Amino acid sequence: MTKKYDIIWADKVDSTNEEARRRMKDFDNLSVLSAKEQTAGRGQRGNRWSSTAGENLTFSIILKFGAGLPSAIQLPAVPASRQAAISEAAALAVRELLYQKGIYAMIKWPNDIYVEDKKICGILIEHSLKGHFLDWSIVGIGLNVNQTQFPASLPNPTSMLAETGLEYDLPSCLEEFCEIFVSCIHLYLDSNDGYDKLRSMYLPFMWRKDEAYDYLDNVTGICFRGIIRGVSDIGLLMVENEEGEIREYGFKEISYL
Ligand code: BTN
Repeated sequence: MTKKYDIIWADKVDSTNEEARRRMKDFDNLSVLSAKEQTAGRGQRGNRWSSTAGENLTFSIILKFGAGLPSAIQLPAVPASRQAAISEAAALAVRELLYQKGIYAMIKWPNDIYVEDKKICGILIEHSLKGHFLDWSIVGIGLNVNQTQFPASLPNPTSMLAETGLEYDLPSCLEEFCEIFVSCIHLYLDSNDGYDKLRSMYLPFMWRKDEAYDYLDNVTGICFRGIIRGVSDIGLLMVENEEGEIREYGFKEISYL
């Protein structure tokens, strides 16, 4: 069987996303760099990602788009305007892995994974463009697996062990995740109607969708009660306000309260 992905384990790096970016030329398409320990794990909005060494999965998947790469799997060209598809596929793959372990998780747009009101996984994706298409992407995933003691500064963390009482083998979980992720990539990026299929899979798992909650519009500074209605074609969050108008927000333009 042709190899679909290549998992490389490192004992310690600053951040698997940073290491992947520095060594981009060394990596084939669908290489997965996983670290037992990160000394400067990066989170969204410039935050740190905290993870106790050896207890969780912290890894980055390197995707290289376009033809002519030596990998067994060739990714199709993805327009820059469709980059949200990578984030949606990654979030769906994590959700599916958790579901297979008996953990029912939802996706907090764009790609945090929540079990009820507790965060179990964060995803940090970085893209490089060539013209109007993606050249490469680094999909960095921090999945809390066996950690049960968390720093008090983290708002509401959880882990697979905390949810099920079971301890997990990290390399096996990573293999299982990679299988699911590669099949998501195939299902969604390789077919004509793939982006639509992906969106229709993603929407039912959106955290807080179709329910009223408070949000902060970071552009106007105004707090408002709104209802998440979905995601636009280019991946913006669609929120209905109390007047029944739907506005679209980029990642930095809205905060959940
Ligand atoms: C978030 O803030 O929710 C995103 C967290 C992403 C953490 C992962 S761990 C592996 C990869 N390397 C990093 O430095 N960050 C991502």
